[in-house]
Amino acid sequence: MPYYVRLMHREDVTLITEIDHEAFPTMWPPANYERELQTWLAHYIVAYEESKTAGEPAVTVTPGKSLPSLVSRVGQFFNHNRIPSIEEPSPTDRQYIVGFAGFWMMADEAHITNIAVRQSYRRQGIGELLLISMISLAMELNAHILTLEVRASNIAAQGLYYKYGFAQVGVRQGYYTDDKEDALVLSTEDITSVAFQKHLNQLKKTHSRRWGVALYHIAR
Ligand SMILES: CC(C)(COP(=O)(O)OP(=O)(O)OC[C@H]1O[C@@H](n2cnc3c(N)ncnc32)[C@H](O)[C@@H]1OP(=O)(O)O)[C@@H](O)C(=O)NCCC(=O)NCCS
Repeated sequence: MPYYVRLMHREDVTLITEIDHEAFPTMWPPANYERELQTWLAHYIVAYEESKTAGEPAVTVTPGKSLPSLVSRVGQFFNHNRIPSIEEPSPTDRQYIVGFAGFWMMADEAHITNIAVRQSYRRQGIGELLLISMISLAMELNAHILTLEVRASNIAAQGLYYKYGFAQVGVRQGYYTDDKEDALVLSTEDITSVAFQKHLNQLKKTHSRRWGVALYHIAR
């Protein structure tokens, strides 16, 4: 899988807003990611592929932001003994953002605010890659549970969350402002528990094999 994960930068906001609008066309105005990035509670990541094709929209990583000395490895639960089979892209490569996700840290709870993958890139394991990365980042930040709201009709997203051990803990009636649809409130168990970690490691192994991910980490 030629996809990588790093923290979201200010330079990404235009593309992220585009992906947000594609994923949530009825939500207006779109989330203000410029402001989100300034919120100290908020933690956002992007998934990207190397983009060398002329004419494709792409962003260039700001020199210095992704220098190896600043690269932090997060959540290498089981891959730490493996030699990556995929070369990491050089920081100067152009990057095409294919999805993003984020959460707010409140006490020991990481509340997922969003996750979205470009339509033409869906069903390739990128949503899972983003969720695995968010769980890793949340653990780094000492979270114990992840929570979120999801539309009652959003079967794709619910499938992703249920696969990773989220369970429904409530319903918010008429939560969505555009059409008053209900939101299901989902939550994990303690993500540091042995049971959750075992399940997560199994899912990562399967994801790794299926999509050819050699290493899970989040570049800064
Ligand atoms: C939800 C979303 C992020 C999933 O991204 P993705 O890259 O397509 O997901 P993956 O390929 O990693 O799929 C992982 C799992 O999600 C579930 N899933 C994904 N798409 C699905 C679909 N169309 N129908 C049913 N289950 C689906 C499956 O359980 C899948 O596992 P499987 O491949 O073993 O069946 C993507 O559909 C999206 O961007 N939707 C629009 C934005 C959105 O609704 N976000 C959620 C806000 S709460």
